Amino acid sequence: MGIGSFRIQLDKLTSTNEFAIKLLKKVALPDGTIIDTQHQTRGKGQLNARWIAEPHNNITSSIIIYPHFLPLDKIYYLNKAICVGVAWCIEEFVGRRVFIKWPNDVYVQNTKIAGLLIQNSIMGRSLQHSILGIGININQSTFPKSFSACSLKTILKENISRYEVMEKLLNYLQKVYNELCLHSFQQIDRWYHERLLGLNSDLLFQQLDTQKQFNGKIIMVDKLGKIHINVDGIVKIYVSKEIEFFL
Ligand code: BTN
Repeated sequence: MGIGSFRIQLDKLTSTNEFAIKLLKKVALPDGTIIDTQHQTRGKGQLNARWIAEPHNNITSSIIIYPHFLPLDKIYYLNKAICVGVAWCIEEFVGRRVFIKWPNDVYVQNTKIAGLLIQNSIMGRSLQHSILGIGININQSTFPKSFSACSLKTILKENISRYEVMEKLLNYLQKVYNELCLHSFQQIDRWYHERLLGLNSDLLFQQLDTQKQFNGKIIMVDKLGKIHINVDGIVKIYVSKEIEFFL
């Protein structure tokens, strides 16, 4: 089954990811099922943050897949691949390169246009299912001042068809998912790092537990999703809960 070939469309939901988790406890859903709503009332973001999206103006969806073919030590390639697929979709509309901000955001001109929340269920030594939660800002024109966010509309200065974005998104996700099925890890890494925001630039980082700040350059994101930073000639490695960086 392809990505999006089975669709569940609901007018209003708390969170498409939460709904997917609950539904999977009761029924088996086809591989690639998408749960989509125009109005998500309690969207979940990374690190327990909320994802707030104006009703009818954005994509708030979750896709259920069963990547049994992916060895556990390669799970992070799913994140990389999905980030690339979302970036391709947005690139098609904005007509230029967009960037992936580690770990799971998509940025245009230093502002966030999309976020991903991927929730994996692992049993024993294999990946049972993954829920790919995707939020893309499409026709929302204003955002809280504290968020550095944008939408296709704020960039292109016109309304964009949500339907059209969705169809392209599903096509690009299918394309990149096919590469994942083929174990094209090097290719996925290339696509991901070509778009990695801040790669090789001098940046200010902050450790989340101590608030300690330091300067460094991002060298790469490895196969476990850890970021490698060159700090005064020494390579330091962090997981996403440990640090943030400023643009
Ligand atoms: C982030 O940037 O913090 C991740 C945001 C992920 C938001 C999407 S919207 C659809 C799906 N359902 C959720 O509750 N969250 C994800």
